Amino acid sequence: MDRMVEIETFDAEEETVEQTLRPDAWSEYIGQEQIKKNLGVFIQASKKRQEALDHVLFFGPPGLGKTTLALIIANEMNANIKVTAAPMIEKSGDLAAILTNLEEGDILFIDEIHRLSPAVEEILYSSMEDFRIDIIIGSGPAAQTVKIDLPRFTLIGATTRAGMLSNPLRDRFGMSFRMQFYTSDELAKIIVQASNKLDKEIVHNASLEIAKRSRGTPRIALRLLRRVRDFADVADEKDIKHERTKYALDELGINSHGFDEMDIRLLKLLVSAKGRAMGLSTIAAALSEDEGTVEDVLEPYLLANGYLERTAKGRKATRATYEILNVALPIEEGTLF
Ligand SMILES: Nc1ncnc2c1ncn2[C@@H]1O[C@H](COP(=O)(O)OP(=O)(O)O)[C@@H](O)[C@H]1O
Ligand SMILES: [Mg+2]
Repeated sequence: MDRMVEIETFDAEEETVEQTLRPDAWSEYIGQEQIKKNLGVFIQASKKRQEALDHVLFFGPPGLGKTTLALIIANEMNANIKVTAAPMIEKSGDLAAILTNLEEGDILFIDEIHRLSPAVEEILYSSMEDFRIDIIIGSGPAAQTVKIDLPRFTLIGATTRAGMLSNPLRDRFGMSFRMQFYTSDELAKIIVQASNKLDKEIVHNASLEIAKRSRGTPRIALRLLRRVRDFADVADEKDIKHERTKYALDELGINSHGFDEMDIRLLKLLVSAKGRAMGLSTIAAALSEDEGTVEDVLEPYLLANGYLERTAKGRKATRATYEILNVALPIEEGTLF
């Protein structure tokens, strides 16, 4: 069985279901209130002036609703949206082809934007700033630079790795928004809404039970909902009830804090330091991950929920972590609590 809490890997079924469940209006987009409020104002203003929206950057861990927001913006602006991802834009010519095919007011969504190559990024700069690109035609002494004007378009970038974005690129976004983890109440609402779309009723307690084990992440919540629904269907239960939900989640090995396997490995590692701080490079090496992934993908959920602390000397487990892992607090060291 695949890891239920794996966030980034997709299968074809998941992608189709995600598309059916994806909200296409603000009213269905739960939470992220600050982002919705600000974006709402900017969208209204640019519609009033009949101008393209300024370039927007969304950053934050996977599954929190970045792609969904980009699609909602396009909807609200009545704009065409072209969706792509940085790994698909290999050469500067690929980007030039995309850009020259855009029309006034179109939106270009580039996912994983931290993965653009420097040559491609270079082209993006002038297109974002001056709506113009320079293309070199021919080679050798006969080579010529041709300037091409682009229509006013809006770039929406998304990244899970804000730390890997170059400063010049970051500076060219008029707005940037950090995605927040969702509260259990917000996730429960998302779950109920999705259940309705799937034509299955879910009782309040059951939605909350799934929410609490979803690592603050809608994508995980929706995945768990589908698995719990399978259990209910097999048992011929019309509604998804609390007991069945608890049973299903336990069967699937989903723990009650929403931690995934990597979270547990990281927390166990920190606890093994017995109260001393551990440096980022040490942690990365011990987990066989790169530092950026530890910092931008693994740590934010644990930090936001008080299971990890960043200090000048490195990372430390908190009192809550020792309690959850059932490990005695390292009092004799006198270094920590
Ligand atoms: N705020 C939200 N309200 C309702 N559903 C959401 C919300 N955010 C995300 N989702 C759901 O979670 C899934 C993953 O969201 P997505 O936008 O693909 O995340 P990201 O692009 O940040 O990885 C989508 O299918 C969407 O239906
Ligand atoms: Mg996405």
